[in-house]
Amino acid sequence: MITVIGSLNMDLVVETKGLPKQGETNFGKSFATMPGGKGANQAVSVSRLGADVQFIGCIGEDLFGNELLKNLKNENIDTKNIQTVKNSSTGIANILLSEGDNRIIVIPGANYELTSQKIISKKDTILQSKMVIIQLEIPANTVLKVLEICHTANIPVLLNPAPASSFSMDYIDYATFITPNETECKDIFGVNYEKALELYPNQLIVTKGKSGAQYFDGIEHKFIKGFKTNVIDTTGAGDTFNGAFAFAISRQYPFNDAVEFANAAASLSVEKFGAQGGMPSLQLVMKRVASRI
Ligand code: RIB
Repeated sequence: MITVIGSLNMDLVVETKGLPKQGETNFGKSFATMPGGKGANQAVSVSRLGADVQFIGCIGEDLFGNELLKNLKNENIDTKNIQTVKNSSTGIANILLSEGDNRIIVIPGANYELTSQKIISKKDTILQSKMVIIQLEIPANTVLKVLEICHTANIPVLLNPAPASSFSMDYIDYATFITPNETECKDIFGVNYEKALELYPNQLIVTKGKSGAQYFDGIEHKFIKGFKTNVIDTTGAGDTFNGAFAFAISRQYPFNDAVEFANAAASLSVEKFGAQGGMPSLQLVMKRVASRI
């Protein structure tokens, strides 16, 4: 069982050609609401590959919350540890899609009701996990509590440090894998992040969009090239990478193969619209991996 602890957001996606300047009003191309949230996305990524997934998180008592819950159930994810909280609305993400990339503003809402006390009450659920995946769209002390529980119980944790502004250096000693994208890595470790990679071999992995991913294996830097892809929407590519990497590690793939597998999954995810729209099945990922061998 893989446990994902994190956010559920309704993504409010606006596609636009150019971005408005301060004080300017522009017409956009389209608008859509799509299920998202880094936590939910990573859970869907793992589940589509065929692993058992349970989710711990919070939604509000509203329409978006109901839809997000229904969506995770449809994706075969165990949702019994998702709590509906009063007095807080379900998280949303305002996503601007422009020139092949995205800019995201998150209003956490109910995601911030996932307190460390709630985590303590879910300890037995967490202890059932082969691996735990967590991100930073929930309160910082909740993240720390999860890391402490897993560390004591020897359960590997993949920490996706997004948004990077919520990252704390205290997390490093507890997390088995840390997976920032390049912007997040620079925010956390500075522009010369290669030194940080060397400090945390086989632990810190930087995802670099279409250029693939990079890590240090203790002897040398490894650059895992991205796969050729036809980009429609990059939202959720990092989440797909994280879910696929956790899946591969939990199936005992060698580290390098797990990164390659995750890269292939991420390259497929960008070929469809929406954070979860293009998340692939195991069969599709295997096919893409084989296309390079
Ligand atoms: O990583 C993409 C996700 O970030 C979106 O689905 C949005 O909800 C934000 O959490």
